[in-house]
Amino acid sequence: MKILVLNGSPRPKGNTAAMVNAFKTGAEKNGNEVVVMNVGTMNIKGCVACEYCHTKGAGACIQKDDMQNVYPEIASADVIIFASPVYYFGFSGQMETALSRFYCVVKPAKAKKFGLIISSGSPNVYAGIEAQFEGILAFWEGENIGVCTAAGEENGKESTFAKLMAFGESIK
Ligand SMILES: Cc1cc2nc3c(=O)[nH]c(=O)nc-3n(C[C@H](O)[C@H](O)[C@H](O)COP(=O)(O)O)c2cc1C
Repeated sequence: MKILVLNGSPRPKGNTAAMVNAFKTGAEKNGNEVVVMNVGTMNIKGCVACEYCHTKGAGACIQKDDMQNVYPEIASADVIIFASPVYYFGFSGQMETALSRFYCVVKPAKAKKFGLIISSGSPNVYAGIEAQFEGILAFWEGENIGVCTAAGEENGKESTFAKLMAFGESIK
């Protein structure tokens, strides 16, 4: 399986990145190919709703920024994992920005399985992200294959990384 992880944290060595690394280690043990794209540090602008993609562009986005490197990965992935810190009870702005750019493809070409990796300061702050995620999955007719979270002191803990490794390993 080809697994695409979109990491929406602006901190390359942050808590979300550590969770993603553990997930990747687990997923690769099973022979999966894991591609991590750090959309949180890439030059990606929000959708400008120009509708070029749904008219003349025939599915292509007119904005030639780093999202152009992400589109081929979205198209070829079997599984897509959204990884993000919680910012004000939602995804990070960087993740929201990248998500808005799915508009041109409408839905991923191949992927039917989706998951979440979420880091936060406090526990029980995931309802907004989970509701958004479920809405997107209903729209994409996708399956939720797992949600892994770490709150506060759970970040950076071996027990958290073990959970993430097991999540990765569960993908076959
Ligand atoms: C702008 C901003 C908003 C945040 N909002 C929340 C929040 O609403 N709830 C929460 O539990 N933590 C919140 N946090 C804390 C982060 O989710 C937490 O520190 C997380 O581990 C950061 O992940 P990272 O190191 O991958 O960036 C916020 C942090 C920032 C910078």
